[in-house]
Amino acid sequence: MVDSAAGPVDLVILGGGSGGYATALRAAELGLTVSLIEKDKLGGTCLHRGCIPTKALLHAAEIADNIHESGNFGILSTLEGIDIAKVNSYKDSVVSKLYRGLTGLVNTRGIELVEGYGRLVSPTSVAVGDRIITGRHVVLATGSQSKSLPGLDVDHHQVITSDDALRLDRVPASAVVLGAGAIGCEFASVWRSFGAEVTIVEALPHLVPLEEESSSKLLERAFRRRGIKQHLGARFAGVKTTDEGVTVTLEDGTTIEAELLLVAVGRGPVSEGLGYEEVGIATDRGYVLVDHQLRTNVPTVSAIGDLRPGLQLAHVGFAEGIFLAESLAGLNPPPINYDNIPRVTYSHPEVASVGLTSAAAAQRYGDVVTQTYDLAGNGKAQILQTAGAVTLVAVPDGPVVGVHIVGDRVGELIAEAQLITSWEALPAEVAQLIHPHPTLSESIGEAHLALAGKPLHSHN
Ligand code: NAI
Repeated sequence: MVDSAAGPVDLVILGGGSGGYATALRAAELGLTVSLIEKDKLGGTCLHRGCIPTKALLHAAEIADNIHESGNFGILSTLEGIDIAKVNSYKDSVVSKLYRGLTGLVNTRGIELVEGYGRLVSPTSVAVGDRIITGRHVVLATGSQSKSLPGLDVDHHQVITSDDALRLDRVPASAVVLGAGAIGCEFASVWRSFGAEVTIVEALPHLVPLEEESSSKLLERAFRRRGIKQHLGARFAGVKTTDEGVTVTLEDGTTIEAELLLVAVGRGPVSEGLGYEEVGIATDRGYVLVDHQLRTNVPTVSAIGDLRPGLQLAHVGFAEGIFLAESLAGLNPPPINYDNIPRVTYSHPEVASVGLTSAAAAQRYGDVVTQTYDLAGNGKAQILQTAGAVTLVAVPDGPVVGVHIVGDRVGELIAEAQLITSWEALPAEVAQLIHPHPTLSESIGEAHLALAGKPLHSHN
C-alpha cells in the first residue's frame, strides 16, 4: 500500500451520498482540501435509489390520476395505458441530469473524487484498493440500506425491496406492501395510480404511524377511497412464493395473494466490514454513535446521515454535512434543531409535518391544545378537489410546536410551517400574516386564525 502522494488532506469523506457530498461541497467552499470516496455513484441513495426517482414515479402517477379524474372537471379523456419503459426513461433522465450537475459541482470545487470501495484503517485514514488516503479528519457517511425481517428472504424477484421496485420493467397486477412508512405508502400510491391491486400490511395501528394520528386517519380514508386495501395492526407471519406470485400470511391466519411482495420495514446502517469496529468506533446495532457535534468516540472521526441513529432523510444529511464542514473549519455553527425537521410522505394525498405530534407535545409540556382546519373550507383545495386538513399543536397560551398537513401538494407548504415552529411563533402572530388568496397556503393562516380565536372560513 502507498500513502496518498499529496500528503494528508483536511477531510477524508467515506461515502458520496447526501451527507457526504454536502460535507465535501461546504468544506471545499471554506477552503478545506477534501477527498471524497464513493464506490458507486456520487449522489447515493437519494439521487439514484430514493427521493428523486421515486418522486419522478409519483409525478407520473399523478398524471395518470389526473387522466382518471379528468371527467370530474368536464375534461373527457381516457387513459390508454402505462408505457413503463417510457416512465422509467423519464425517471432516469431526471436522475442523470441531476447527477451530471452534482458531478460538475464537485469538480469545480476542487474536491478529489476517489472512485472505489473505501475501508477505515486508522483514525485518520481510509484504504481504497492499494491506496491509503490520510486526512486530518475522517467523515463516515456510508448511509443505509433496505432491511428485512428475520426469516424473510428477499429474492429480488417476487419478494423485493424499494431498489428492486424502482427497477421493475412492468406495473405489477397486484402487490402486497409490508410496512406503511414513507416507502410503503409511496409505492402503494404509485402502483395503485398505475392500476395495480394493492394491499398494505402494517404492524402498528395506522398508516404512517409516526405521524399525528389524525393525519394517519385521513390518509387511511383517502387510500380506502382509492381502493388500496389495508391490514393495520397486523403481524406478518410468512410468505410463500410460487410461479404465479406470492401468498402472504398474517398471524391471524389471513392470506393475501399477489404478484409480488414489497418489503418496506425500514432501512438499516451500512457499517459492516468497513473497519469501523476495528478502529474502535462505538456503534449500536450497526449505527455509529455520535455526540451533538456529530463526533464519534474517536476524536478524529465524525459520522453523519442515515448511518447515525435518528431520522433518515436526505435533507437532514445535507444539514449535517453543512454543520460538520463549518465546525471542522472552526466556524462554530449553531447546532441542528432536530425537533423542527420537516417530513413529507409524497403519496396521493401527501402527508407533511414539522415539530411535535400532540402525543409527543403532551409528554414534553403536559398540557397542549390542538386546532384542525379542514381543507373543505379552502378555495384552492376545492378547485383542486383535494381533501385534507391542517392540524396545529400548541402549548396553551404559548407557541405552536407542531404542524401536520394532509392533502395533495401540501409538501410544498411545510417550509412555512417550519418557520413557525422554529421561531416558536404564537398563534396570534401567525394569524397576522396575510396569505395569498386562493392558495393552499391560506389553510395555514386559517388554522392559526382559528387557534387565535378568530376563525374566518371555519367554525371553531
Ligand atoms: P419506516 O421505518 O418509516 O416504516 C417501516 C414500517 O414498517 C413501520 O411503520 C413499521 O411499523 C412497519 N413494520 C415493521 N415490521 C413490520 C412487520 N413485521 N409487519 C408489518 N409491518 C412492519 O421505514 P421505510 O418506510 O422503509 O423507510 C425507511 C427510511 O427511509 C425511513 O427513515 C423513511 O423516513 C425514509 N424515507 C423517507 C421518505 C420521504 O421522506 N418521503 C421516502 C422514503 C423513505
